[in-house]
Amino acid sequence: MRAQVARELGRNALVLGSVLGQGGMSIVYGIVPHDDNASPLALKIEKAHPDKTGTPELESIYHTVPGFSAITNHPHLGRYFHSYHIAAANDEKPPQLAHLLQKMPEGSKTLTQLIVERKKSNGRMTIRELVQALLHTAKGLAQLHQHNLAHRDVKPGNIMQVSMAEVEEGLFRWLLNDYDTVRKQGEVLEGNLVSGTIKYMSPEQFYNRSVEVQSDVYSLTKILYWCIEEYVAASDRTYEYFAGHILDEKKITTRRELAKIINPMLETDPGERPPIARVIEQFEALLKSDLQELNAPLLGL
Ligand SMILES: Nc1ncnc2c1ncn2[C@@H]1O[C@H](COP(=O)(O)OP(=O)(O)O)[C@@H](O)[C@H]1O
Ligand SMILES: [Mg+2]
Repeated sequence: MRAQVARELGRNALVLGSVLGQGGMSIVYGIVPHDDNASPLALKIEKAHPDKTGTPELESIYHTVPGFSAITNHPHLGRYFHSYHIAAANDEKPPQLAHLLQKMPEGSKTLTQLIVERKKSNGRMTIRELVQALLHTAKGLAQLHQHNLAHRDVKPGNIMQVSMAEVEEGLFRWLLNDYDTVRKQGEVLEGNLVSGTIKYMSPEQFYNRSVEVQSDVYSLTKILYWCIEEYVAASDRTYEYFAGHILDEKKITTRRELAKIINPMLETDPGERPPIARVIEQFEALLKSDLQELNAPLLGL
């Protein structure tokens, strides 16, 4: 596989560097640059997943939307370049996928890492800072939605803060990453796998197989819900707890001004949620306001 990737990059060999991060389904390595001017690259290698064999899930967006790489060329999306099928060492195992990505600058962190670090150091992140991160994420989502693509796994582990080296007007730049679950609006998914993350999943994504961009508005807002309204103890973080949560149609009650803006984004009917362009406007207006509720610290994740 390395030889194949190296050839396509016009190099003799491909040297993988340190592990930059790991998700549930993959490991991301830095690629050691072959010269000082080379742009920093990373290779995401998907772990073999027996349940995925033969389902359309494997035929992900990387192969079905020509020009997907160009769509990710956006300040609030992680840049994706190309995917490779890696033949398995023996015939019984399914082939794996590897994705060539732009490497984030040293020191970039996920929103999950930042919220946890800040909580430990007693300088908890505020609601205002979280809304800033989600505003940038919403801009990345708007780019996907304009191309009729739904992300379907918007969560703190897939949102990254681009390192300090790139501070914009005194604020951080955040972006949305990880396109394994991206699908076309209206597509009907087959197979048994409900992909996404139950804690942030919209009711329609949980019950239906039809792809809906408005599911992303729900998941984005659900991040706010958990951070503002309800902290779930580690022992309660079960599939059943989160599935029950989807049934209960929970909304924000403790922050009354924020609830007015945020709760419509958590409507059970996707058609009643504001489209992403409206979410962006509302987050921008919030950040310009001096609403006291924005200064409260987050409960945690
Ligand atoms: N382009 C990148 N540059 C640096 N680190 C990355 C990059 N992409 C992902 N990572 C790190 O790897 C982790 C897993 O990546 P992700 O795409 O979310 O994989 P998964 O599909 O397994 O969730 C991320 O949380 C992040 O820490
Ligand atoms: Mg991920």
